[in-house]
Amino acid sequence: MTLVRSTFIANAAAALFVTAGLALAAAPACAAPKAKPKPKAAAPAIAGDPVHGQTVFAQCKVCHSLDAGKNGVGPSLRNIVGTKAAAVPGYTFSAAMQKSGLTWTPPTLSDFLTAPARKVPGTKMPFAGLSNPKDREDVIAYLAKN
Ligand code: HEC
Repeated sequence: MTLVRSTFIANAAAALFVTAGLALAAAPACAAPKAKPKPKAAAPAIAGDPVHGQTVFAQCKVCHSLDAGKNGVGPSLRNIVGTKAAAVPGYTFSAAMQKSGLTWTPPTLSDFLTAPARKVPGTKMPFAGLSNPKDREDVIAYLAKN
């Protein structure tokens, strides 16, 4: 009986070791897919302060809403970060914007917002631009949250 029990314990212990070994061996394999960047993570990281960005956005609000489908003088900027230029439904873009081929990532937005008419010659966005890099960074951080 004692012998049987100790054999059982030995077997159970061995089984535990095997299980632990398998778990250890499996661990890196499990971790590997997590290490791969998700499609969203591949986009440049958004720096900037969205709280200050909201203040900067006061300059854009005259023409832009952040509500989906609410276009004004300019298109709604709801979820604009990561989308293609001139793709907001129900808004008539300039030919220049339609042909720009841009995708609104933080760098392209920053370029555009520095001097809209320089980045997209012929754009109908009547806005001189944000010369302060921090203002651009922050307003982009704010847009990324809306
Ligand atoms: C006086 C009005 C006006 C102001 C102010 C203004 N915009 Fe615009 N914006 C427009 C118009 C009009 C367009 C469409 C441009 C076109 O079709 O060429 C536009 C287009 C855009 C686009 C491209 C949208 C798309 O779907 O491709 C972005 C991004 C944008 N504006 C951001 C901003 C931000 C950020 C501010 C503030 C810093 C701002 N705009 C200030 C009128 C304005």
